[in-house]
Amino acid sequence: MNPKLTLILLLLLALTGCKEDSRVKIIKMGHAQVTAHPVHNAMVFLAQRLEEKSKGRIKVKVYPNQQLGTERELIELLQIGSVGMTKVSAASLEAFSPEISVFGIPFLFRDDAHTNQVLNGEIGTELLLSCQKFWLRGLCFYDAGKRSFYTKNKPVETPADLAGLKVRVQESKMAINMVRAMGGSPTPVAYGELYTALQQGIVDAAENNPPSFYNSRHYEVCKYYSIDEHTMVPDVVLVSTKVWEELNPQEQEWLQEAADESAVYQAQLWKESVEESMREVQKAGVIVSYPSKDAFREQVQSIYDQVEAENPVLARLIERIQNTRE
Ligand code: GCU
Repeated sequence: MNPKLTLILLLLLALTGCKEDSRVKIIKMGHAQVTAHPVHNAMVFLAQRLEEKSKGRIKVKVYPNQQLGTERELIELLQIGSVGMTKVSAASLEAFSPEISVFGIPFLFRDDAHTNQVLNGEIGTELLLSCQKFWLRGLCFYDAGKRSFYTKNKPVETPADLAGLKVRVQESKMAINMVRAMGGSPTPVAYGELYTALQQGIVDAAENNPPSFYNSRHYEVCKYYSIDEHTMVPDVVLVSTKVWEELNPQEQEWLQEAADESAVYQAQLWKESVEESMREVQKAGVIVSYPSKDAFREQVQSIYDQVEAENPVLARLIERIQNTRE
């Protein structure tokens, strides 16, 4: 064959190849957790479901372990559209969507049923969509259980045990206020840097749910886990509105469905993971205690009073959540 023709044919083939490829939308999804964590598996499930629904036309590539940035950085990358999706703690979203800070109010939720009622109802939808004005669209919540203190040197039995302790908190004003109200010294540290911060004594304590305490291996450094369950801060799956708007209505529907299905799947994984984590950390020598919650609850009454006095929007949201019943 004429070499010139061969070249043209090869070029055409390459171009068709590119055209094929460019029809496939690839969405990058970054998060801060390790791959053994149930939220990672739920995101992989979301990606599979979306690929199936779209017959391979939309692919989500999941990047764990802060590979694309800390939760705060990821949120900012979504806002400019350079990362398409993420899963962050609602606490990390506080600075971007003020209403979301309601999840940081300690002892607001009565139990799991109450939390689910709120998240799956009108308030949950409102909060997910409240991020849109900040170029972030919340697709669904993932269960992130209840957060409790873990410490290096002594258990936290009462708020007095927090005195003098540097307690790592998320980058959240509400979490800072909570630890301060309870008597500890709050120190914000990004999740991915926390193991070293604990090891090197930059902080003496932290707080999290059992799967994160276990999968992050913080239990290797912190041998006391005091289950006071002060907050129930859910995780939020977000898509950049820039990416969302580039999808046609059918694709948006697929993405929403895939996210909703992944939330159902994650809830199942979560329950198993909590049990496994509690078992494993104790096997590794962690002493688990169940302090009375009343003293902790009393200490944070000042947070409720302050919100009541200074933030009518949040106060109203708290009231609506308290009044949510089955
Ligand atoms: C939870 C949450 C994470 C978050 C972490 C933290 O584990 O699921 O998204 O990074 O808390 O304390 O920072």
